[in-house]
Amino acid sequence: MNFDLCVKLFFFALALASPVYAKCPKERQLCSQSGEYKHCEEEDERYPAGTKKTNLIYCDSMFCEPEGFQHDYITRNHDQTPHQNKWKRAKIGERATLHDVCLLRNGMPVTRECKLKDYRAEWEATDQWDPVVCLRRFREQTISEDLNTLHDEVLEGRRRTNDTQGRREMTGLMRTIFRQRDRSLLPVDVHMTGQMFGALMQQDKDAAVIVDLVSVCKEIMSCDSQVLRLSAQLNATNTLLNQFENYMDALPQQLVPKEQCGKVVVKPMSDEAETATTGVETYNLSDIGIQALITGNISVFFANPECDFITGIAIFSASAENRRASPSGFWYRFLRFSEDLDKIKRESDLETAAFLPESLWKDVKGKGVTYLIFKIYAHDALFVETSLQRSRRPRSKVISISIPGLENNILPQPLPFLLRNENLRDPDANALTSGSGCGFWNYQTWSNEGVTTSNSSNLLKDLIIECHTDHLTQFAFLVGGSYRTNDLGEEVLITPINEKVLDIISIVGCSLSLLGILGIFLTAAIFKSWRSQASTKVLLHLCLAMCLQMVLFVFLNTDDVSEKLVTNGDTVRCVALGAALQYSILVLFSWMLIIAFLQFQRYVTVIGIERPPRYILKAAIVAWALPLVPTLLVALIDPDSYIPTKAQLSTDTGICYPSGYGLIFGVVLPVSMITVSNLVIFVYVFYSISHSLSQSIHKSEKKMVIKQIRLSIMLFFLLGLTWIFGIFAFMQAGVAFSYLFCITATMQGFVMFVYFVLLDSANRRLWVGLICPTKMKMDVQKRTAELQSMTTSSTNYTSRSH
Ligand SMILES: *[C@@H]1O[C@H](CO)[C@@H](O)[C@H](O)[C@H]1NC(C)=O
Ligand SMILES: *[C@@H]1O[C@H](CO)[C@@H](O)[C@H](O)[C@H]1NC(C)=O
Ligand SMILES: *[C@@H]1O[C@H](CO)[C@@H](O)[C@H](O)[C@H]1NC(C)=O
Repeated sequence: MNFDLCVKLFFFALALASPVYAKCPKERQLCSQSGEYKHCEEEDERYPAGTKKTNLIYCDSMFCEPEGFQHDYITRNHDQTPHQNKWKRAKIGERATLHDVCLLRNGMPVTRECKLKDYRAEWEATDQWDPVVCLRRFREQTISEDLNTLHDEVLEGRRRTNDTQGRREMTGLMRTIFRQRDRSLLPVDVHMTGQMFGALMQQDKDAAVIVDLVSVCKEIMSCDSQVLRLSAQLNATNTLLNQFENYMDALPQQLVPKEQCGKVVVKPMSDEAETATTGVETYNLSDIGIQALITGNISVFFANPECDFITGIAIFSASAENRRASPSGFWYRFLRFSEDLDKIKRESDLETAAFLPESLWKDVKGKGVTYLIFKIYAHDALFVETSLQRSRRPRSKVISISIPGLENNILPQPLPFLLRNENLRDPDANALTSGSGCGFWNYQTWSNEGVTTSNSSNLLKDLIIECHTDHLTQFAFLVGGSYRTNDLGEEVLITPINEKVLDIISIVGCSLSLLGILGIFLTAAIFKSWRSQASTKVLLHLCLAMCLQMVLFVFLNTDDVSEKLVTNGDTVRCVALGAALQYSILVLFSWMLIIAFLQFQRYVTVIGIERPPRYILKAAIVAWALPLVPTLLVALIDPDSYIPTKAQLSTDTGICYPSGYGLIFGVVLPVSMITVSNLVIFVYVFYSISHSLSQSIHKSEKKMVIKQIRLSIMLFFLLGLTWIFGIFAFMQAGVAFSYLFCITATMQGFVMFVYFVLLDSANRRLWVGLICPTKMKMDVQKRTAELQSMTTSSTNYTSRSH
């Protein structure tokens, strides 16, 4: 046979042997959800029309691929340009988290479901959500960042889980992350761990990683119950539990094979150093068909009854003869199929026990069963019900019994198990006999279908509860009663670190400002000469308005206060606070208008003409009263516009302040009108003054005019620019504007103090005179001496010239 023919024959044979789908075009191949079963879309005849593709997916569309997405972070000042993030790759049915971990205040991740639609994976529609916001940084030390990085590496294939070494590295890292003592666990961590266990499930099962998995589950079991209850809202505890159980159930062939029966084991138990790093004791007793992984809260026993007829396990809370001690604080004994249930039941300090009696073992063995797996959970932390009202709750250890290879987990005859009633040790005031009994976890709630509890006059008083089941899963003794759990939806588990820099600028700026305003008032209070000037009076009014605004802004109308008011439904106070803030801003601007108007009067129309009596008082009445009009209009017509929206509150940017039309007509319109008229007046005043200046006014008056103009320009920039920056910052034009707004807005009072008191030579002299009178006197003497000498010299000169 020539070589060519040989090759052809080989390929022909290959083509015959390959399944049908190999000929199927790639885009028509259908897979079952688990990915094992493949089939071509063309093969209609095997599936009657309509039903053919149930539960099938196009093989090239099993995953929702990463998708870009923008969101905001919670910060005190709403200054962020939206953050570009992306959804992680997810399998159908999974809830994906974000690439840059995105947490809400309660530690829950923001997730998006990957759904099955038209036989393809498709992201859940996003328009139904509130805007997504996350905490950028928070005070708590958590493991989320590390875990998220690892999760990312696994999903993106940068850390391979399909080869032994990569897989072991990954679970080792996971264990190390979870065993950091100084870090806290959040619901997002439970969620991501479940997904990573899921990724492991897709690969070959590896007995070397189970120590790490047990260790991780143990850490999760000992975390705060609130965290677990929150994560249950994402089905994260169930997913984790299910993946964990399935992974364990896939391993007995590797751990307790028949070939090891009776063979001496080199290293029967983990040494102390190992236990210290992993937190798990391991026992290799494969000579008697047992391997065990033991921790204080979760233990797994693999059994191969063919070695030594061991078909069960009993756990005790005290030592006795023939019990093995575990450093985790309990004792245990393996049960052979010949044991007597009643005898075990009478043993002292029994916590839980389960075994397959001889007839049952023979029966299942006949059905091709080889291995048994028992898992003991010390408490029900991982079995979380999401309903708030429960009619019973577990009061025993949870024992999980698995028999791989048993069809549908249905037992041919009942399997007995014993549970200690913890209600005796620690009675529960709500406990009721009715409803009490053994039950199993159906990944939603506890059910007692197919589980019989032994007859007893009062179950609550029995020390050991005996039950029988006809199917396999996790079991516990449930105590009836009415149990309410508090709603945890809004529980705050993590506290954000506010954007420090802007906070500090605000606080320092406002303190300086208030100090400045105080300085101005003090100067006015001490020096009558300054106080009695008309311009000072105007300035004092302006400062008063500024003070009002700053106190409202910094202390009274903060986002924390608004949030409290809104959640308490105290809308009246919110409207009042919002109106007060609006009013203070309008007053500030109306004083700017008054200043412009006074200057207009002074320099343009009525130069040299006496002002009407008490004109400052009249101006003040106008300036303080006029802003009431728009404020009251908005407050009466549209009070709802003061209430911040949910989205604003969740981003910490919501304060009681007008929004929408209230903002436009109640603030923006009056402020713009004033700003425009000010601009017009200034231009006009400037024009006419520079005109008249050339017609030579008196020198001192010229100096005065220039000073006034400088003042107006400064005020305009100080107040006007602040609001221009504010508008840019509001439009999210960039962080720089937020900083500029923050600096200018909070420093206003301080700048006024510098300008009017420190830079004003007359005021400076007044203060110097007050603080060190002698120096002042010396100055005066020196000045007079200089003057005298000047006059004398000039006299001399003049006399000489004469
Ligand atoms: C693991 O998967 C990668 C691709 O994801 C592949 O290139 C590699 O050959 C696989 N390794 C093993 C041992 O299967
Ligand atoms: C078991 O879990 C409980 C609560 O969940 C925890 O307080 C305890 O420390 C855990 N025990 C061990 C040995 O980890
Ligand atoms: C939660 O997860 C469990 C285990 O993976 C699954 O059986 C159950 O259907 C899930 N429940 C929901 C509501 O998705």
